[in-house]
Amino acid sequence: MPRPKKHVLVCVQARPPGHPRGSCQENGSMNVFNAFSTAFQVRNLWASFALTNTGCLGPCHDGPSVLVYPDDVMYLGVQAEDVQAIIDEHLLNDRPVERLMAPKEVW
Ligand code: FES
Repeated sequence: MPRPKKHVLVCVQARPPGHPRGSCQENGSMNVFNAFSTAFQVRNLWASFALTNTGCLGPCHDGPSVLVYPDDVMYLGVQAEDVQAIIDEHLLNDRPVERLMAPKEVW
């Protein structure tokens, strides 16, 4: 398997209702992961990129959180409708989507 150009990690951590940290899954991260997964399939992105659902990445209250390596870019508050922009602008054209990027004090 060739090394991917970029690896997209989508937090799908769940916690019980009312948990003080909240969770990305509570904020809709499964929809985000599914949107990435569908786009990877439809657009044949698996040949060049990797996609992984993962546990907590840290900033739970501001999720859904998405991390892109090796660029070390974290996106917060990602919704399914943002996925195409992340793919088109960041994965395919190396231009991170600034409006979704975590502020410096977070990441
Ligand atoms: S639950 Fe997703 S960042 Fe913590």
